[in-house]
Amino acid sequence: MTDERNNTAGEREQSGIPRHIAIILDGNGRWAKKRGLPRTAGHAAGAETFRRIALYCRDIGVDYLTVYAFSTENWKRPTEEVKTIMRLLDKYLHEAIETMERDGMKMRIFGDVSGLSPELQALAHTADTVADRVEGFQANICLNYGGRDEIVHAARRYATDLASGKAGELTEELFSSYLYSAGIPDPDLLIRPGGEQRLSNFLLWQCAYAEFYFTDVLWPDFTPEELDRAIAVFRSRDRRYGGVK
Ligand code: IPE
Ligand code: IPE
Ligand code: MG
Repeated sequence: MTDERNNTAGEREQSGIPRHIAIILDGNGRWAKKRGLPRTAGHAAGAETFRRIALYCRDIGVDYLTVYAFSTENWKRPTEEVKTIMRLLDKYLHEAIETMERDGMKMRIFGDVSGLSPELQALAHTADTVADRVEGFQANICLNYGGRDEIVHAARRYATDLASGKAGELTEELFSSYLYSAGIPDPDLLIRPGGEQRLSNFLLWQCAYAEFYFTDVLWPDFTPEELDRAIAVFRSRDRRYGGVK
């Protein structure tokens, strides 16, 4: 396990710690099934793993962690499962509001919050207010998030600004400023546990040059050691961005 703290940008660069890590939190249901438990027990275990991994990212000097917790497609699941996930998110947001400042972890919600219950919307709003007071490491939780949905929302907002004379000619940089991730560097490393090798509509715009790491480990079993392995593989990659070395 990497135990030294790499808190400055220079130290992080040298150590090869990615500035921004994105993770698709997948495999909760299968983790529970293997244990003869209901799928929802997997989601509860997955929430604990998120806590542990987020703190570990903070400690090793990652600046941003973006996790996929509930997609725009996940509404297709059985009502009871969706309800349980929403209850867990409610509990998690309450805790985040209490602990963000103490833990030095700024939490942001990415996604179409208007599609969530009024209670969750209010919590997301409070969490945002608290996050404004926190400096340093930032964890973004994607809730009711879809990459295409995000792009369509951004395009609509840009069109409105253009029509009212508030926006100029569209560039990649300007378009990025309409996304949930405005002002945040693109992910360097995208991790998908759970064995699938697909994006499932996650960060379609932002992952243009991310390095991908797939593992069969199910999300609730994901450990800091597994994150170290992903980072070691990331370090060995040659990022050319279309150029030559
Ligand atoms: C990821 O785990 C959590 C959500 C999508 C909400 P899954 O629930 O997809 O777990 P598997 O893929 O069925 O094992
Ligand atoms: C992706 O996992 C979405 C989240 C982890 C929130 P899914 O389990 O929904 O993805 P698919 O259905 O296997 O593509
Ligand atoms: Mg899944």
